[in-house]
Amino acid sequence: MAVLVTGGAGYIGSHTAVALHDAGRQVVVLDDLSNSSPAAVDALRSLTRPDLPFVEADAADVDSVGRTLADHRVDEVVHFAAFKSVSGSISDPEGYHRNNVGCTAGVVAAMRAHGVSRLVFSSSCTVYGEPNHVPVTEASPIGATNPYGATKIACEELLAAEADVGGLDVLLLRYFNPVGSHPSGDLGEDPQGVPDNLVPYLMQVAVGRQERLAVFGGDYDTPDGSAIRDYLHVMDLAEGHVAALNALADGDGPTGCTAVNLGTGTGYSVLDVVAAASRVIGQPVPHEVVGRRAGDIERIWADPALAIDLLGWRATRSLDEMLVDHWRWQQRHPNGYEA
Ligand code: NAD
Ligand code: WQD
Repeated sequence: MAVLVTGGAGYIGSHTAVALHDAGRQVVVLDDLSNSSPAAVDALRSLTRPDLPFVEADAADVDSVGRTLADHRVDEVVHFAAFKSVSGSISDPEGYHRNNVGCTAGVVAAMRAHGVSRLVFSSSCTVYGEPNHVPVTEASPIGATNPYGATKIACEELLAAEADVGGLDVLLLRYFNPVGSHPSGDLGEDPQGVPDNLVPYLMQVAVGRQERLAVFGGDYDTPDGSAIRDYLHVMDLAEGHVAALNALADGDGPTGCTAVNLGTGTGYSVLDVVAAASRVIGQPVPHEVVGRRAGDIERIWADPALAIDLLGWRATRSLDEMLVDHWRWQQRHPNGYEA
């Protein structure tokens, strides 16, 4: 039997594919390469097996997904395929809805048609919007602050409804802020164009691809005035998916649809991250505090208790380890995979 990883050529999907392979599973990757490249698939194969099955297809295409499930005798699915840029979603809300909800609907329809019932879904802490209390638990109020977040809420609702009527068992994993790379330095985050996210931007400053980091907001009600997030190592996150699939396959594991936070439980400010990165890199990262970015929230971090109880998973890697590994990837691949 095998596990299908949709969006498996992307950042989190490729690291998860490696973790699943290392845990002894047969992995099949499906991706349309809309935000990734054949070189990422090559890197994934060199860390797993040279003949790792890769299907280039749209996850919204029920026939392609169904054929993949049948051809590879798939009995569990991890569904990453989606567009993920908040700014992209503001310029193209319909396109984001069509792709993200369409992919989830397509994957579920194919699973139903082929009798596959175990699904792990990539959700996001963005579903909590601006929390009125931290840390956030899975029972904290839900509300989107941008169209991307709205697509994640719509997918969660679709999956909950499907679990109610369709016999699907789903874990909705709400990731906090993944950073870092595989320790080899040969698999990593390769954003197209100018990065939106903090650590990829900061690393591009450190290799000279960007001049200086703009720190968005120095007037938040936080100890140093910059915003706070829960950063977690992408390998911890990848291992969280292995734990989630193991829990679903366990006869005593969760049934129906359950949301689980995947975060460390610790918040760091933007300036904390800049200081840690400067230490790890061995030279100051040029930065400048500017105005707040529209739509940003002040602070969020996870209560990770449910993941510990239900999945037996907790993040173990420190902020320094995240930055050391991300920096190794950036140094070995200053211009990403294709360079
Ligand atoms: P990514 O863009 O690197 O990976 C997503 C992959 O999905 C890409 O390889 C892309 O080509 C593929 N894809 C997109 N639409 C597709 C389609 N219609 N058919 C097939 N493949 C398609 O993003 P990522 O950071 O690895 O994120 C993976 C998942 O995790 C996404 O669902 C994202 O929303 C979610 N997520 C990401 C973060 C984050 O900060 N990176 C945080 C929370 C949740
Ligand atoms: C982190 C902090 C920025 C860039 C986004 C999505 C969220 C989730 C994770 C998918 C913030 C600050 C950033 C820069 C900065 N993704 N920053 N200068 O905004 O927490 O979350 O990615 O689900 O949905 O919204 O992550 O990395 O963009 O920002 O000062 O150049 O760094 O303002 O405080 P964010 P991020």
